[in-house]
Amino acid sequence: MILHIHLSILFSYIALLHLISITLAQSENYIIHMNLSAMPKSFTTHHTWYQSTLSSALDNSQFTTTNNLNSQTSSKLIYTYTHVMNGFSANLSPEEHESLKTLPGYISSLPDLPVKLDTTYSPQFLGLNPSKGAWHDSNFGNDVIVGLIDTGVWPESDSFKDHGMTKLPSKWKGQCENSIHFKKSLCNRKLIGAKFFNKGLLAKDPNITLGLNSTRDTEGHGTHTSTTAAGSRVDEASFFGYAAGTASGIASNSRVAMYKAIWEGGRLSSDVVAAIDAAISDGVDVLSLSFGVDDVPLYEDPVAIATFAAMEKGVFVTTSAGNEGPEHKTIHNGTPWVITVAAGTMDRDFQGTLTLGNGNTIMGLSLYIGKFPSNNVPIVFMGLCDNVKELKKVKSKIVVCEDKNGTSAYDQLNNLVEAKCFGAVLISNVSDASLTQNFASIIINPINGEIVKAYTKSYNSNSKNSSSIANMSFKKTVFGTKPAPSVDSYSSRGPSKSCPFVLKPDVTAPGTSILAAWPTNVLVSHLGTKEALSNFNMISGTSMACPHVAGVAALLKGAHSDWSPAAIRSAIMTTSDILDNTKKHIKDIGKGNKVATPFALGAGHVNPNRALDPGLVYDVGVQDYVNLLCALNYSHKNITTITRSSSNDCSKPSLDLNYPSFIAFFDSGNSSSKTIHEFRRTVTNVGEGQTIYVVSITPIKGFSISVIPNKLVFHEKNEKLSFKLRIGVDRMTKLKKVSFGYLSWMDVKHVVRSPIVITTMK
Ligand SMILES: *[C@@H]1O[C@H](CO)[C@@H](O)[C@H](O)[C@H]1NC(C)=O
Ligand SMILES: *[C@@H]1O[C@H](CO)[C@@H](O)[C@H](O)[C@H]1NC(C)=O
Ligand SMILES: *[C@@H]1O[C@H](CO)[C@@H](O)[C@H](O)[C@H]1NC(C)=O
Ligand SMILES: *[C@@H]1O[C@H](CO)[C@@H](O)[C@H](O)[C@H]1NC(C)=O
Ligand SMILES: *[C@@H]1O[C@H](CO)[C@@H](O)[C@H](O)[C@H]1NC(C)=O
Ligand SMILES: *[C@@H]1O[C@H](CO)[C@@H](O)[C@H](O)[C@H]1NC(C)=O
Ligand SMILES: *[C@@H]1O[C@H](CO)[C@@H](O)[C@H](O)[C@H]1NC(C)=O
Ligand SMILES: *[C@@H]1O[C@H](CO)[C@@H](O)[C@H](O)[C@H]1NC(C)=O
Ligand SMILES: *[C@@H]1O[C@H](CO)[C@@H](O)[C@H](O)[C@H]1NC(C)=O
Ligand SMILES: *[C@@H]1O[C@H](CO)[C@@H](O)[C@H](O)[C@H]1NC(C)=O
Repeated sequence: MILHIHLSILFSYIALLHLISITLAQSENYIIHMNLSAMPKSFTTHHTWYQSTLSSALDNSQFTTTNNLNSQTSSKLIYTYTHVMNGFSANLSPEEHESLKTLPGYISSLPDLPVKLDTTYSPQFLGLNPSKGAWHDSNFGNDVIVGLIDTGVWPESDSFKDHGMTKLPSKWKGQCENSIHFKKSLCNRKLIGAKFFNKGLLAKDPNITLGLNSTRDTEGHGTHTSTTAAGSRVDEASFFGYAAGTASGIASNSRVAMYKAIWEGGRLSSDVVAAIDAAISDGVDVLSLSFGVDDVPLYEDPVAIATFAAMEKGVFVTTSAGNEGPEHKTIHNGTPWVITVAAGTMDRDFQGTLTLGNGNTIMGLSLYIGKFPSNNVPIVFMGLCDNVKELKKVKSKIVVCEDKNGTSAYDQLNNLVEAKCFGAVLISNVSDASLTQNFASIIINPINGEIVKAYTKSYNSNSKNSSSIANMSFKKTVFGTKPAPSVDSYSSRGPSKSCPFVLKPDVTAPGTSILAAWPTNVLVSHLGTKEALSNFNMISGTSMACPHVAGVAALLKGAHSDWSPAAIRSAIMTTSDILDNTKKHIKDIGKGNKVATPFALGAGHVNPNRALDPGLVYDVGVQDYVNLLCALNYSHKNITTITRSSSNDCSKPSLDLNYPSFIAFFDSGNSSSKTIHEFRRTVTNVGEGQTIYVVSITPIKGFSISVIPNKLVFHEKNEKLSFKLRIGVDRMTKLKKVSFGYLSWMDVKHVVRSPIVITTMK
C-alpha cells in the first residue's frame, strides 16, 4: 500500500508538470505576502486593500483595459488570507506579477507549490486503557477539536457515529458546508466541520478533474487519517478478516473537522493555506497535516508559514516526516514550531501458512484478501522469477521465488500476476505484508526459504518422482511479535534541511499496517479482475503516524487545557520510549535492524500515558522562534513572511532554541583544536510543587559531556530553572557520522529524557 501512495504522488506530479508546461506562458498562481503596517488608513479592511493593490497591478501592466478591471480583479484573486499570513493568492501573468512587485506594501511572492501526501489495535499498542491514564484523565479527549487538512471524509462511516456525545463546544465557530453528495445534515456531534478548498487548483486549470467538487472523500486518505486521530469506537471492524476487533481513534471523544484541500487532480499550497486559515478561525485545537513540501527554506514553505500563525494562536500542529527513507536528509516539515512524526511498526503480524507435502508447516507474512483452495497444489522453485515466459509454464503451481541479486519481491509479484500463476512463496527479507494483498502469496524469511527449497529441489532433481505438493491458508493475525516497535524503512530521516539546528523528526508513532475507516466505494485492492471494497482499510506511511500524535495531543489538551503547543510537544517527546518489547534499544528496519538513531526515531516512540505527567517541560515562546529565524541570517523580508510582523526583534539572535532535544555539528577529521558546543535550556516544573531533579547522561564515546548545574531544586509548581549542556571533543580522532546519547532529568517519579545527537553531517 505504501507503493500505491507513492504511485499516486508520482502521478499527480507528472500531471502537474504537464499542466505547467502548457499554461506557463500565460499565467501562474502566486501567494503574495503584504506588509499590513503599510496599509493606508483609507482602507477599512485588508481585503479591500489587497483588491485595490491587485487592480493597480493589472492596470499598470498593459494587458488590461480599465473598463473590465473590477471583474478582472475578482477573477484574478483566488483567496484573501486572514490569520495565517498577511496577503492573498492570485493568478497572474508575468507582466502583472512584475507590476505588483513595484506597489507599496508588497513584500514577497511565492509560486503556488504542489504539496506531497505522504488498527483497531494501535490504541492498545500505545498502552491506552479506559480505566486509567490518558484516556481516563482526558475523558477520551472530550470536547477537543481535531482539524485535518486532507482529502475529505466519508461521513457515513461508523467511525463518525456520535452516540453519547455532548453538545458542540461553544467556542466552535466552524460548520459543515453543503457540497455535491455531501448535505450538511450528514454532520453530527462527532463530525462537526466540513469545508473544501479548490479555487487555487481551478485558477491554475479550470478544466482540471477534481474527483468530486465536494468535501466527500473520493480517495480514502482523509477518512483514514481523521478516524485514526479521533474516530468513534466501532465493534467488529476488520480488513477482510485480518486485524479483526474493535476499531477506535486515539481520542475517541474528540470532534473532527475536515478541510479538504487535497484533490485527485492536484494539491496546491494556495488551497492548503486557505484551509489552515479557515481551521484557525473556526477554532480547532489540534491540526493534523499528513503532507509536506520538499526542499524549500522555511520562508518559502507554505506549511511552515501557515503553521507559525497556528502556533501563535495556541493550535497544536502535527505533521508527517515523509515516506522517502531510509537515507538521511529526506525529511520534510523539519519546522521548529510543529511536531514532526516518523513511522514505526507494531507487534502485530498478518500471516499465511504453507504446509508442505512432507508435513513441514511454515509461517510467513501475508495480507492476501482472497480465499485459497487448500488441496495439494504442486509447488516448484523458479529462482529469481524474473522470466514471465518461464513462469507461464508453471502457472498452475505454487511458485517459489528467491529475492536476490537486486530483484525485489515487488517485481516478482508483478511477473507472477502477469503469468497468472496460482500462488507463490516469496523468500525475502521484506516486512511489508501488504505486497501480497492481491495475489495468493506468502513472504517467508531466508532461513525457512532453505527448507522450502530443499523440499522442492528433491522434486526437480528427479522428475519421475511424484510431484512436490503444498497447501496454503491465510488470514491469521498474530500479536506479540518481537522486536516491536521498529522504525520502518520508508520513514524519512533527519537532519532537517530547512533548519538543521533543531533535531528532527521529533517522535515515532505507529504507521505501518494501520486499520481505519475507508469510503465504501473507493477500491482498497484488486483481486484478479474483481474490485475489492471494504469499510476499513489497512495502509502504511508517515501519513498514518501523524494522526496518532494528533490524537495523543488531543488527549493531553483534554487533560491539560492550559498547556502551550510547545509544552505538549515537550511532554510527548521527553516521555517517549526508546526500548522495544525485548527491552533493547528500538531498531531501524531501513538500516538492517541496527539501533535506530534519533535521525530515524526522534526522541522515541510515543507513550501517551506517560506524556500525561512529564514532570518538566521545555516551553518555547513566539519570540524564541523569532530569535532562531534571526540567527538563520534570514532577511527582514524573509522573517516577516513567516511572522507577519513588520517589526521583528532581532536583538538576541540564537540558534539554541529551548527544545527538548540537542544536535551538535562538528567538523570531521580535524585534530587541531578542541571544540566545545554549549546549549542553554530552561525547564518548567509542571509536576506537583517541591521536587529535586538530578541529571543523568549516557556517555558518548569520544566526547566529554557535562551539565551545569547537575541538580535542579524546585520549590513550587510552574517554577522555571535553567541549565547548560556542554559537549567537548576528547580526542580529535575521526568522528562518526552520527553519535548519540541521552540527557535525563530524574526525580522520584519522572524521567525527562532528551536525545543528544553529535554529527558531522552539515
Ligand atoms: C512595513 O511597513 C512599515 C511602515 O511603512 C515599515 O516600517 C516596515 O519596515 C515595513 N516592513 C517590511 C518588511 O517591509
Ligand atoms: C464547486 O462548488 C461550489 C459551491 O459548492 C461552486 O461555487 C463552484 O463553482 C463549484 N466548482 C466547480 C468546478 O464545479
Ligand atoms: C478548457 O476547456 C475548454 C473547452 O474544451 C478549452 O477551450 C480551454 O482552452 C481549456 N482551458 C485550458 C486552460 O486548458
Ligand atoms: C491439504 O489440505 C487437504 C484438505 O484439508 C488435506 O487433505 C491435505 O493433506 C493437505 N495437504 C498438505 C500437503 O498438507
Ligand atoms: C536477509 O537478512 C539476512 C540477515 O539479516 C542477511 O544475512 C541476508 O543477506 C538478507 N538477504 C537479502 C536478500 O537481503
Ligand atoms: C547477478 O547480477 C550480476 C550482475 O548484474 C550477473 O552477472 C549475475 O549473472 C546475476 N546472478 C544471477 C544468479 O542472476
Ligand atoms: C522425491 O524423491 C526423493 C529421492 O528420490 C525423495 O527423497 C523425496 O522424498 C521424494 N519426494 C516426494 C514428494 O515424494
Ligand atoms: C550567520 O552569519 C554570521 C555572521 O556572518 C555567521 O557567523 C553565522 O555562521 C551565520 N549563521 C548561519 C546559520 O549561517
Ligand atoms: C527572502 O529574502 C531575499 C533577500 O532579501 C529576497 O530576495 C526574497 O524575495 C525573500 N523571500 C521571501 C519569500 O521572503
Ligand atoms: C581544521 O581546523 C583548522 C583550524 O580550526 C582549519 O584551519 C582547517 O582548515 C581545518 N581542517 C579541516 C580538514 O577541516
